[in-house]
Amino acid sequence: MSATLSGTKVFMNFEVTPTSHTLADYRARGGYATLEKVLKEMQPEQVTKEVAGSGLLGHGGAAFPAGRKWGVIKLNDGQPHYLCMNADEGEPGTFKDRWLLEHTPHLLLEGMLMGAYALQGRHTFVYIRGEFDLPYRRLAEALEEAYAAGLFGENIMGTGFSCDLVIYRGAGSYVCGEASAMLTSLEGKKGYPRNRPPRLTVAGLYQKPTVVNNVETIANIPYIVRHGAEAFKKIGTPKSPGTSLISVSGHINTPGVYEVEYGYPFADFLAKECGGMLGGKALKCVVPGGISTKVLTADDIMPITYDHNAFLEAGSQVGSQGMIVVAEGTCMVKLMQVMMRFYHHESCGQCTPCREGMGWLEKISNRIVAGRGAPSDIERLYQISNANDGTTICGLGDAAGYAVSGILDKYRHEFDYYIEHGKSMFDGQLEVML
Ligand SMILES: Cc1cc2nc3c(=O)[nH]c(=O)nc-3n(C[C@H](O)[C@H](O)[C@H](O)COP(=O)(O)O)c2cc1C
Repeated sequence: MSATLSGTKVFMNFEVTPTSHTLADYRARGGYATLEKVLKEMQPEQVTKEVAGSGLLGHGGAAFPAGRKWGVIKLNDGQPHYLCMNADEGEPGTFKDRWLLEHTPHLLLEGMLMGAYALQGRHTFVYIRGEFDLPYRRLAEALEEAYAAGLFGENIMGTGFSCDLVIYRGAGSYVCGEASAMLTSLEGKKGYPRNRPPRLTVAGLYQKPTVVNNVETIANIPYIVRHGAEAFKKIGTPKSPGTSLISVSGHINTPGVYEVEYGYPFADFLAKECGGMLGGKALKCVVPGGISTKVLTADDIMPITYDHNAFLEAGSQVGSQGMIVVAEGTCMVKLMQVMMRFYHHESCGQCTPCREGMGWLEKISNRIVAGRGAPSDIERLYQISNANDGTTICGLGDAAGYAVSGILDKYRHEFDYYIEHGKSMFDGQLEVML
């Protein structure tokens, strides 16, 4: 598959300068020119058709086809329709949306306007992670510029289409990145996830038809509309069209955010973009798409390409595109403890298996790390993980379970050793801490 790659960049196709985030620079790159064409020459259904035809998959973690989600909205049902951009980016290891918000906020605003037009939405929202400072300021400044230029508000470009956008800052909750919790929080309530059905496209924000899309999903829209679905499908692989931003951290020389075409060999990514392993250490494993995805060992990941199918076949997912690279010598028991502390802290407490289960997963991890683990603890970790699978309103508990079973399936011997000896098999060897 890699032979067909052309190295196309959808997002990182301009030089980042002190002004590249401004309206003037975005316009100089051709920004908003396609919007005018959309509003003046295209029917809303045509925009959705183009997005559906492109095969664009959501970049928020679940890889749901964007066009299929948009297609559910019935345009002439007499109800308001809402489009919400999910900029919560709370998944550990994930910081790729931040790049888009900081460096090309107008691309996101243009994508939101095209989406709003396709869905015939008068009001749109961005829910942005509370801890984001520069990304928020950049987006807010861009929105101000766009309003001043008549790109938002009433009768945009004299086309009769009107649209407003509200930026809402979160308050530091991971679960508020889950689409339904996000909408509940937007409504001013405690950010609890909601049971489905009804789907959000039927009863979302204020119980009206709503589309929630990730920042990077929205960022793809102007490219697709400008170049057409067929051109977009030529990038990447047939089942994972387009490119992906990857935020990569951990034991590598050059952590950061990189854009790759789907189908890019992981070994090349590690050697080139990541600059190789820190201190020349051997690769142990990769947490491939935020900690909610199953760990892939070096043997699993080194031969495969970066795309949805390859990762699924290897037993994991591309997920939130936040990769954590782990070097040999790292203790997986301690790694799991860090993950469980996070999930316990972030469980909203609404569902019993998650509220109780996350606490127990952390307690058991702490006990093992303190040298007081029992052999039965491993079975208990599996049981608690399985008890969450499909029994909770949102995916937080399931995801913690995947993290646990993913690590235990591959590195059980490290847990057995820790429990038997009361210490890590890597004690004294850890040079790079997580
Ligand atoms: C606990 C939890 C946290 C999530 N956090 C985010 C997030 O920070 N950003 C995001 O885009 N999606 C997040 N999601 C996924 C969203 O629910 C939703 O699937 C996504 O925003 C849809 O956008 P897309 O179809 O464009 O991928 C999260 C899901 C769960 C279960």
